[in-house]
Amino acid sequence: MKPDLTPVVHTLDATTRATHYGHPGAVLWLTGLSASGKSSLSMALEQALMARGYSCYVLDGDNLRHGLNANLGFSPAGRSENIRRVGEVAALFADAGLICITAFISPYRADRARARQSCRSQFHEIHVAASLATCEARDPKGLYRKARSGELQDFTGISAPYEAPEHPDLTIDTTSDSLPASLQKLLDYVIAHYPLGAPAGSAGLAGAADPTA
Ligand code: ADX
Repeated sequence: MKPDLTPVVHTLDATTRATHYGHPGAVLWLTGLSASGKSSLSMALEQALMARGYSCYVLDGDNLRHGLNANLGFSPAGRSENIRRVGEVAALFADAGLICITAFISPYRADRARARQSCRSQFHEIHVAASLATCEARDPKGLYRKARSGELQDFTGISAPYEAPEHPDLTIDTTSDSLPASLQKLLDYVIAHYPLGAPAGSAGLAGAADPTA
């Protein structure tokens, strides 16, 4: 904490917010190569959760790089700062009581570990694990082609590293599983961890107030 700053304590606590929403705030951190399916899955998950009464919001790499992170590039330092900011914003969304779904390549383990550290609620690292060959064959934005031809520098998987999670909380393999099947796995995972309307103080909600849970 900076010496001349005094944190203001919220009088609304995590349990009150969890009771209001019917579930605690949390971060679902999706990491994986470009075109692995992070954005499609995140948007589908947000919709499916909302339809079931959950309150959630997606933070997406391509979107945030137009605004909050518009001044950042794809060097290791640019990506680190991108993920540092997203980690802080996701933590705030979770503090607010929402299930925050993030869809960023987030290629460096250390940056993802720092995002987990910043999070005062439960943090779930979810590896969207499509193989490079699969992502390159999809190439929806033509970026792999540009990276192979040298038109695009520092492209993840081609000319920049991707450090896969060693112990992810969940792995979704979109090479072998379809989008609906992948979505179902995600949905099952969220519903199992955060049964809607579980009384505050039960296993699901207790984690909201206990960042070490
Ligand atoms: S991260 O590495 O800093 O986490 P982020 O998820 O925000 O990346 O942005 C990734 C998106 O930016 C990709 O889906 C792709 O559309 C676009 N992009 C543009 N240049 C690159 C690059 N050099 N490497 C990876 N993605 C890039």
